[in-house]
Amino acid sequence: MTIRAVVKGVGHYLPKRVVPNSEFEATLDTTDEWIKSRSGIERRCFAADDETTSILATHAAKAALANAGMEPDDIDAIIVATSTPDLTFPSVATMVQAQLGMTRGFAFDVQAVCAGFVFALTNANALILSGQAKRVLVIGAETFSRIMDWTDRSTCVLFGDGAGALVLEAETGSGTVSDRGILSADLNSDGRYREMLYVDGGVSTNGQSGKLRMQGNPLFRQAVEKLAATAETALEKIGLSGPDVDWIVPHQANLRIISATAARMNVPIERVVVTVQDHGNTSAASIPLALSVGVARGQIKQGDLLVAEAIGGGLAWGAVVLRW
Ligand code: UT7
Repeated sequence: MTIRAVVKGVGHYLPKRVVPNSEFEATLDTTDEWIKSRSGIERRCFAADDETTSILATHAAKAALANAGMEPDDIDAIIVATSTPDLTFPSVATMVQAQLGMTRGFAFDVQAVCAGFVFALTNANALILSGQAKRVLVIGAETFSRIMDWTDRSTCVLFGDGAGALVLEAETGSGTVSDRGILSADLNSDGRYREMLYVDGGVSTNGQSGKLRMQGNPLFRQAVEKLAATAETALEKIGLSGPDVDWIVPHQANLRIISATAARMNVPIERVVVTVQDHGNTSAASIPLALSVGVARGQIKQGDLLVAEAIGGGLAWGAVVLRW
């Protein structure tokens, strides 16, 4: 008997304010054409001033619970992947717990920047496999608009706000790759790449929340190489490879990275869920947003084999293989 962490519900939330590329032309030396051709991004959503990460996360969580047909108190644990928490502490996850009216279980945040959702899913899987929890709500939620330097055209046009959530539940499987649920994962980090993507503030450094700094071009090259490698490693662990996959659900940072990764894995772009044009880079929210939108579009269907892959600050990167 094999326990599997199976997806029972999915949902997302995007702030109402949609910002097209053209809006940046008024304040920055940039063009819609540059942003579109270099990143694939056409628009992104920005949270309202009173819309914090926990509020976005709670909307997404409610949508995922409704989709699963579950109540908040059916859940044993909440994990929120975020690098833009409402406060230094407590965790966004405990705020979501309270906002959902959940009176039991436990909640905590995971911080692996853009790879956060992959790390959170892997943690949720471990909780389920070890018997610590039967039902886990896994959320990716970010308000990266709060850490943008609006004078830096090389970063502020790339990021957006949003949240996505999954409900995972323990189910008995056969132990083969035909089981639904999380089948494999591969996690990596290398702190020597710290300067490539970081925020120049923090509690114990300068007491400020800071602004995002990125060496875009070197990071681009790392991303293309590491994303295909981690996705292939996760697949190899269960005897599969790129062509076996129904959908790649990538972190949505750049359409050129997404396409190059799919090409390296021998997966045609038609089998990749792409949302970067509408959401920009929403860091830890990008994969659950893409999962939810992919289902809503009718792309992802029950039984499909998915590989989700992401890289971000740290560097931290990884992949999860799951059957929907
Ligand atoms: O989520 C975590 C993972 N994140 C990523 O993986 C992001 C990785 N990096 C990227 O997506 C790309 O590197 C960018 C989209 C950030 C940039 O694309 P690029 O093809 O690597 O361009 P570049 O950085 O080499 O810059 C090319 C030129 C530069 O001008 P010069 O030095 O050639 O004169 C930049 O100053 O484009 C300039 N540039 C811009 N021009 C117009 C940078 N930002 C802009 C802009 N508008 N917004």
